[in-house]
Amino acid sequence: MSEVFVAKAIPGIERLTSYDVGVWDGEGPVPRNVLLSGVSEARGLLSMLTDAIDAPLLEAASHLEVVSQMAVGVDNIDLASCARAGIVVGHTPDVLTETVADTAWALMASVARRLPEGEREVRAGEWGPWEFHHLAGGDLHRTVLGVVGMGRIGQAVARRAVGFDMEVIYSSPRESAPEYERVGLEDLLSRSDHVVICTPLDDQTRGLIGKTELALMKEGSHLINVSRGPVVDTDALVAALISGPMAGAALDVTDPEPLPGDHPLLDRDNCLVVPHIASASVRTRNAMASLAIDNLIAGLEGKEMPARLPDAGVG
Ligand code: GLV
Ligand code: GLV
Repeated sequence: MSEVFVAKAIPGIERLTSYDVGVWDGEGPVPRNVLLSGVSEARGLLSMLTDAIDAPLLEAASHLEVVSQMAVGVDNIDLASCARAGIVVGHTPDVLTETVADTAWALMASVARRLPEGEREVRAGEWGPWEFHHLAGGDLHRTVLGVVGMGRIGQAVARRAVGFDMEVIYSSPRESAPEYERVGLEDLLSRSDHVVICTPLDDQTRGLIGKTELALMKEGSHLINVSRGPVVDTDALVAALISGPMAGAALDVTDPEPLPGDHPLLDRDNCLVVPHIASASVRTRNAMASLAIDNLIAGLEGKEMPARLPDAGVG
């Protein structure tokens, strides 16, 4: 029975040698039963976004003092129950911001210029004679970029728009960014050529983009999601990809996740899906691992974590 359980064999765990450490070093997410027994005596847990840190787990982990998650999003963690149990929770903001913003732009450019469709065609040996309108898509430059959720990532996405001479508008209940125009969500949807979702998943944002919202989108526009799948209603998105007004979507995250290979989203040529890799540059993944371990060690030593989350309901 270990004092610390680490739910993925990430670089840097050798820094934990002064603790008795249990590690899941198998492929993919740690199985639930392994996680439950791993935390039964643990004071510290290093978790991944695929691990449900919910009430049953917290009950099984009666010695737990610290949860350090290697992700910025913490919707898999029951923060209120952690706060009640006096468990401090850390995550990995900032170190991944620029990489996620890079990926949001890669997705936006790919779907607007229809790169995946072109690539599939070439690979299938279907590159036919040159045609005037073939795979003609949308532009990035001198269009309107709508950012939903103007936190660190939203701001980094917006900053990149300067080089493309885009107008940036945003909607965000909490954050403000005076250099851009703040609008309501409905306004944002009806004015944007590209809508990029950068908001965390919580009670306010679950299902934020549904049938009504998708119907407000501009003709020929694109939806890009780098936050969490359940912010968008998947069935409504499938319908909008078929009948418009949007031209396409590019998703790093989906609901459900992983997305089954026969899911209706994948029947749509105008939908680009990648498997939750927005922060997956080598440099950034190493930085996330390092910060998660820093948070864990600080928590175990009773010191202030470099990136602690405010207690739920307080922050
Ligand atoms: C990735 O999705 C993260 O929250 O870090
Ligand atoms: C988190 O959502 C961020 O914007 O860093």
